[in-house]
Amino acid sequence: MAEFTLPANSVVMPGKHFAAPEGATNTRLFKIYRFDPDTGENPRVDTFDVDMDTCGPMVLDAIIKIKSEMDSSLTFRRSCREGICGSCAMNIDGSNTLACTMSLEDIDGDVTIYPLPHQPILKDLVSDLTNFYAQYASIEPWLKSDSPAPPDRERLQSPADRERLDGAYECILCACCSTSCPSYWWNSDRYLGPAALLASYRWLSDSRDDATGERLDDLEDPFKLYRCHTIMNCAQVCPKGLNPAKAIAETKKMMVQRRL
Ligand code: SF4
Ligand code: SF4
Ligand code: FES
Repeated sequence: MAEFTLPANSVVMPGKHFAAPEGATNTRLFKIYRFDPDTGENPRVDTFDVDMDTCGPMVLDAIIKIKSEMDSSLTFRRSCREGICGSCAMNIDGSNTLACTMSLEDIDGDVTIYPLPHQPILKDLVSDLTNFYAQYASIEPWLKSDSPAPPDRERLQSPADRERLDGAYECILCACCSTSCPSYWWNSDRYLGPAALLASYRWLSDSRDDATGERLDDLEDPFKLYRCHTIMNCAQVCPKGLNPAKAIAETKKMMVQRRL
């Protein structure tokens, strides 16, 4: 089995090793980031030999197994286990993705698991997404209409208008995109990031919404929107196959068009 070594200047220390149960013949090494702010210790990477003959096929199955059978203190978020809630987002094998939809078969060799990058860490694989959610709230993600809702039915849209929302409404707010975006790493206090901007575009494109001007006014700022440099990490990692970079480009186009 490959020896796991950390760079000499790493502040992440090598951690504990948890061996596979006796008799296990088909094992795989998991290297998992650990951090507990209550101990005051540096982060470390623990290694776990997991018995793959009794493990499910997804990364989430493996970390649930590790927590149940090897180290109950391992901390992570998860809920739906089917790519809907977005809570199990983490950095797996060097890329942000959902643990529940990431198949172990698609990873070569040892499995390395870190929390989403460039966010404060609350514990182990749980990053603090307070700023991320506040930015989502800041785009006011709800319908703003000047007219009262019809008393007896929904607000209707033509099929073509409804189609304009495809690719924008499916976001599960997992934060994989924003936390993979270099612009967001450097300016997450002021740049809204791809997830919030995709959500903003979802409302800008809604034919039932009457607040387009007000929404665009709010984005007219050197940082909120214009820090996107089309690096495209966001589209590459989105586990729902969405393209926030395209939505950001469309929003910039709307900014220009309204000045013409
Ligand atoms: S395209 Fe824009 S939002 Fe997406 S990763 Fe690059 S800079 Fe970030
Ligand atoms: S756009 Fe994709 S990666 Fe970004 S938060 Fe939404 S679902 Fe997650
Ligand atoms: S557990 Fe809900 S998306 Fe993974």
